Amino acid sequence: MLKRFTISMEEELLHDFDDLIAQRRYKNRSEAVRDLIRSRVVEDEWAADKDVMGVISLVYDHHQHQLQEKITELQHDLHHHIVSTTHVHMDHHNCLEVIIVRGQAGAVQQLANSLIALRGVRSGNLAMSSTGKHLH
Ligand code: NI
Repeated sequence: MLKRFTISMEEELLHDFDDLIAQRRYKNRSEAVRDLIRSRVVEDEWAADKDVMGVISLVYDHHQHQLQEKITELQHDLHHHIVSTTHVHMDHHNCLEVIIVRGQAGAVQQLANSLIALRGVRSGNLAMSSTGKHLH
């Protein structure tokens, strides 16, 4: 059920909010506020070590000695956290590996850190997402 409530804030802060809304292409303030709250819920899930989903992306040169093997080995060691892996051969040297992970936030974060810290990984990122169970 949809409930209405009123928010008071300084004019300058409201201007900032409206700029943000325009930039992010929100149709109205309500959907923007709802999404801000949801993203805070996701942040808190990670901070509280809840069951979460994440997406790890790695860019690396597959010619780097044993790097491909290490990336695969780490995923096998933590196979219960790996939902899916997609590998893209972007050009002669560069690979993009996208790994969808699930589990307790701390364990998932550690796995991402271990992968990203491997020598030869040129770009690494963990996108923190959610199982959606606590999102409305
Ligand atoms: Ni490749």
